[in-house]
Amino acid sequence: MIKRYFLGVMICLAVSPAIAEQQYVAPQYQLKEKQIFIEKLMQQMTMEEKIGQLNLVSIGSDYPKPAIMAAIRDGKVGAMFNTVTKVDIRRMQDQVQYSRLKIPLFYAYDVVHGQRTVFPISLGLAASWDMDAVALSARISAKETAADGLNMTFSPMVDITRDPRWGRVSEGFGEDTYLTSRLAKVMVESYQGDDPSAPDRVMANVKHYALYGAGEGGRDYNSVDMSLPKMFQDYMPPYQAAIDAGAGGVMVALNAVNGIPATSNTWLLTDVLRQQWKFNGVTVSDHGAIGGLVKHGVAENDRQAAMMALKAGVNMDMYDNMYGKYLPGLLKDGLIKQQDIDTAVRNVLGVKWDMGLFADPYRHLGPASTDPVDTNAESRLHRAEAREVARTSLVLLKNDHNTLPLAKSGTIALIGPLADSQRDVMGSWSAAGAAKQSVTVYQGIKNALGTQATVLYSVGANITDDAAIVKYLNSYDKSVEVDPRSPQAMIDEAVNTAKKADVVVAVVGESQGMAHEASSRSDISIPQSQRDLLKALKATGKPLVLVLMNGRPLTLSWENDISDAMLETWFSGTEGGNAIADVLFGDYNPSGKLPMTFPRSVGQIPIYNSVLNTGRPFNPQKPDKYTSRYFDITNGPLFPFGYGLSYTDFSVSDITLSSTTLDSKGTLTASVTVTNTGKRSGATVVQLYVQDVVASISRPVKELKNFSKVMLQPGEQRVISFPITEQDLRFYNENLKWVSEAGKFNVFIGLDSQNVKRQSFLLL
Ligand code: BGC
Repeated sequence: MIKRYFLGVMICLAVSPAIAEQQYVAPQYQLKEKQIFIEKLMQQMTMEEKIGQLNLVSIGSDYPKPAIMAAIRDGKVGAMFNTVTKVDIRRMQDQVQYSRLKIPLFYAYDVVHGQRTVFPISLGLAASWDMDAVALSARISAKETAADGLNMTFSPMVDITRDPRWGRVSEGFGEDTYLTSRLAKVMVESYQGDDPSAPDRVMANVKHYALYGAGEGGRDYNSVDMSLPKMFQDYMPPYQAAIDAGAGGVMVALNAVNGIPATSNTWLLTDVLRQQWKFNGVTVSDHGAIGGLVKHGVAENDRQAAMMALKAGVNMDMYDNMYGKYLPGLLKDGLIKQQDIDTAVRNVLGVKWDMGLFADPYRHLGPASTDPVDTNAESRLHRAEAREVARTSLVLLKNDHNTLPLAKSGTIALIGPLADSQRDVMGSWSAAGAAKQSVTVYQGIKNALGTQATVLYSVGANITDDAAIVKYLNSYDKSVEVDPRSPQAMIDEAVNTAKKADVVVAVVGESQGMAHEASSRSDISIPQSQRDLLKALKATGKPLVLVLMNGRPLTLSWENDISDAMLETWFSGTEGGNAIADVLFGDYNPSGKLPMTFPRSVGQIPIYNSVLNTGRPFNPQKPDKYTSRYFDITNGPLFPFGYGLSYTDFSVSDITLSSTTLDSKGTLTASVTVTNTGKRSGATVVQLYVQDVVASISRPVKELKNFSKVMLQPGEQRVISFPITEQDLRFYNENLKWVSEAGKFNVFIGLDSQNVKRQSFLLL
C-alpha cells in the first residue's frame, strides 16, 4: 500500500501533464501514511514553497490568469477559487508540473445552493425542514462541483442570525440552533460522503467562524458582543456540528467577537476550534480579512496583521497575499516561528491529501478528453431534483377562502417585476448557474397550464423606483434592470391586465441582489414601487395572490391585510417557476415552515422564538402596561418560527409522556397523534420544544429539540414519538459547563412554535 502510494508521489513529482490521462485511482486513507508523506514532503520544501502553500488566490481583474500561472510555476500558490471550468482548472493544474516540487493546487468555489443546477437559497432549504431534500440538493451540488473539476465548496454557511436586516440571512439556515445544526451535519455529510476525493464529492468548508450572523444592527461585517453562555448555547453548535460531521475546512469570519477580530482570535481558532473541538482540517481567512485587521484597529500595519493571523491559527490567506509578502521577513526577524508556518502548511497539505490530490493531481478533472463540450449543456443539469427540492421549500403564509390552489381554467393575470426574471429566481450566490436556464414563474405557469387556461402578463412596476438603491445594487454588476416607463404607466397597464382576469397573481419582493453580501437593509418591507402596484391591483376587486420572492423575512402586515393568499417562495432556483406553479395549481401541497420569525415591524428586531421570559413577560391574554412589550404595535411576530399552512388541515392530540420523570440514564418519550383532517394528502412538520422551567440561569421559553416531517393521506392518523434524554436538556451554565439541572421541564408539541400542546415532567 505504502509503496504504491509513494510511487504515486514520485509520479506526481516527476511526470509531465500527460498524467492527466491516467485512470482514476482511489486514494489511500491510512493516517500514518498521510503523516509520513506530509513530513517527507515538508523536508523537501523551502520556506518560500511553504509560504506559497498558504496563498489562496482568486482570479480577477487585479490578478489575471497569466500572472497566477507564473506564480504557480514558482510554487507561490496553494489553492485557487473563482475558476470553475475543467478547461481553466486543468490549465492551472498543468502549471504545477513546472514547479520544483509539483505540489498540486486545490480549487474551491462558493457553491452554496447548487453549482450548475441552482437549488433554493439556504434559507429556503431550511424552510423545507426536509433532511432528505436538503441532502439531495447537497449531493447534486457536490456531483456538479466535482464534475467541474473543483475540490472544495465554501459551504455550508451556518451563521445563526436573528436579524433579518442582514442581507446574508439568505445564505444561512435562519434563527434556530437545533435546526441549523441538523442542516449543517446533513450538508457536510452530503457534500463529502465518506471520502471527499470520490468522483462525485467535494470537501466542505463551513463558514463563517464565528458569529458572523450576530453583527450589531444587522449591518454587514459589524462587530459582535455576546456573553459566553449565549455564544456556546445558541451560536456555536452549528459550526461544531459541521466539524463533527467531518468538514475539512473552516472559513474565518470577518467580524470581531467581543472586541477581537475572528481573524486574529487565538481563543476561537486554536483553543476552541483545534483543542476543544479537535478540528484537524484547514482554516482559511475570508476575502482580504487579514489586511482588515489594520482597519479593525488591532494591527498597526499589514505586516503585523499577517503575524497576528498566522499565530492565531489562520492557515490560508484568501486573496490579499499578506503571508506571501510578510511571513519571510517576520520569520527572519524572529516575530514568528518556523513552527507557526509549518503547522499551517501541514494542514494545507493534509486537506490536499484528503482530496486525493497527491494520488492524482487531476482528481475530479480526469483527462481532457472527458471535458464537457458545453459547460452549460442541458444534460449537465438535474432539473427533476431541483424541482422536487424547490417544492418542499415553499411556505404558504395565508390562504383565505381556499383561494389557492387555483383552477387551471379561465384567465390569470400574472403581474410583478419578479414574475419573469430569470436572474432573480436563482437568488444570490448562484455559483455557476446560468440565468438563461432558470424557469421563471411566468414560464412555470405557462408550462402548467398548456392550453387549459389563459395567462396574461404585465411587469407592473420596477423592483424599486429609488435610483440611488438601483445604483448601489448595480455597482459591481448589473443585476437590476429598470423599465424606463413612468411608474403610473406601468401600473395602468397592469391594472388593465388584471381587469381582464379572474384572479391576480402578483410576484413581488426583493431582487436577488437585495439579499446578498453587503445588502443590509434598515427597512425590510417590499419596496414602495411594488406596494403602489399592489394597492392598484387590490382596487380592481379581483382575488389577489401574492407570490413572495425574497431572501429574508420581510415586514408584511399590510400585504397580509390586503391579499387573499400569500406564498413565500424565497429564491427557489433553476426550477423555481415550475415548483411554484406546482403549488399554485395544487399539483403539490405546500409543506414548508418558516426557519425564521417574520416581524410585524423592523422595530421589533431582534424577534425570535427561543427568547428568555424576562421578569415581566408580556401576556397577550392579559395585556398589562408594565410588561416587556411595545405600546405602539401588536406584540409578537406576524408569522412565528415554524409556521406554514397546507391545503389540508391537521390536528394534533394532547401529548402523552411515557413517564412523568426522567433520570440521567433513561429516555422519556413524548408522543402525539397527528391526523390529516382535510381532503388532500399533505405533509407537515411536527415540532418538539422544551422549556427548563427553573434553572441556575434563565432558560428560553421554548427551545426546538426535535422535529419530524410526516406525510398523511386524508383521514390518516400517525403517532409521532420523540425520545428525550438528559443530554437533550443540557445547557451551558454560567461557568460554561454543559450541564442539566434537576427539576421541572415543559414539553411542547405543535405544527408551529406558538400553537402547541403542553405537558410537564421532572428531571431527577
Ligand atoms: C464572503 C465569503 C466567500 C468569499 C469568497 C467573501 O466576501 O464573505 O462567504 O466565501 O467571499 O467568495
